[in-house]
Amino acid sequence: MFETLPALPPDPILGLSAAYKEDSNPKKIDLGVGVYKDEYGNTPILKAVSQAQVLLQERETSKVYITPQGHQGFIDGMLSLMFGEHSQVLGDTRVAAVQAPGGCGALRILAELLMRCNEDTVVWVSDPTWANHIPLLGDAGLTLKTYPYFDKDTASIKFDEMMDCLAKVKKGDVVLLHGCCHNPTGADLSKEQWQAVAELAVNTGFLPFVDVAYQGFGDGIEEDAYGLRLLANSVDEMVIAASCSKNFGLYRERVGLAAIVSQNATVSKITQSQIQSVARGIYSMPPSYGGALVDIILSNPSLTHTWRGEVSDMRERMITLRELLVTNLHKQGVHKDFSFINQQKGMFSFLCIAPEIVQRLRSEHSVYFVDSSRINIAGINKTNVEVLAKAIADTLKK
Ligand code: LMR
Repeated sequence: MFETLPALPPDPILGLSAAYKEDSNPKKIDLGVGVYKDEYGNTPILKAVSQAQVLLQERETSKVYITPQGHQGFIDGMLSLMFGEHSQVLGDTRVAAVQAPGGCGALRILAELLMRCNEDTVVWVSDPTWANHIPLLGDAGLTLKTYPYFDKDTASIKFDEMMDCLAKVKKGDVVLLHGCCHNPTGADLSKEQWQAVAELAVNTGFLPFVDVAYQGFGDGIEEDAYGLRLLANSVDEMVIAASCSKNFGLYRERVGLAAIVSQNATVSKITQSQIQSVARGIYSMPPSYGGALVDIILSNPSLTHTWRGEVSDMRERMITLRELLVTNLHKQGVHKDFSFINQQKGMFSFLCIAPEIVQRLRSEHSVYFVDSSRINIAGINKTNVEVLAKAIADTLKK
């Protein structure tokens, strides 16, 4: 029966890693998949994580199943990180949550939960959005539509168009927002823009769905939660998918959180039972290891301090790399003004260049990034930045 299925092209993001590995050019540059890299191109294990691993090794006495919702310490730590220690919704016990297999797992189980509420649910995603949002939400059966978000010509957010579109969505429609460090553009809403979105959500009755995959990589751990916390204080209901892949460097452990804010504590209990039943029907219960590590880090003040410092170092380094790239592009005499890269946040920027140029950079200069022109800023380093800037300048000139 499987012969009836068509062969599919490689994943637009993950396929780049395979192509990069096969390239024998010693000067090849990988700006593809969104993983943090140090100056030497390595993705190190965070010190806080290494120390938590030692503690876990000492403490873990069994490999029996953990509870269906995951490690409660992990859930509480993550909720406090996202909503803030003195959050009203947490105090009112209006938040149901489960540990999920990565941010992707969280997105998918929330999509399934939305389908249980209403099979005709429409989810509005930004144009553009992270490529994998489409299958993660769409394959659950949700109807996806796009709202305008980013203008490639001006390298800025089309906020008026976005608001005009969202003003017309129906009550009960879902609007997917990137909590911080928008993937793929790196263009984030300002505080004033978040305020306007929150007011619109209240007025139109759309359900905010916030994806928080990069908390701490934009302006800071607390700062990056601004939009999410504002929405939580404004609306009766919202859903949140969080990932620990990037800010804890726990990529392969697959650990994330799915959270639902309901109108009151009674509904929240119902939601908790539903989200656990969704998870049970897909993968039964979450893997333990990554959640156990995050639990240890967030419940130990010294490890939390170490971790916050490491997140800060990663963020600061990416800001420096943005500046380094813009300076080097300028030195190479490119006509295009790339200074917008310095305003963007987190791991990604859109270079706002045509897909043909991106493909030529790949085939002629072994520089790998997504056709949309999204680059992983963390793939830049002091050794490759000049080669990269020269390759971009040469390709743009031709
Ligand atoms: C990315 O956007 O590159 C990362 O989130 C990795 C992935 O799974 O796509």
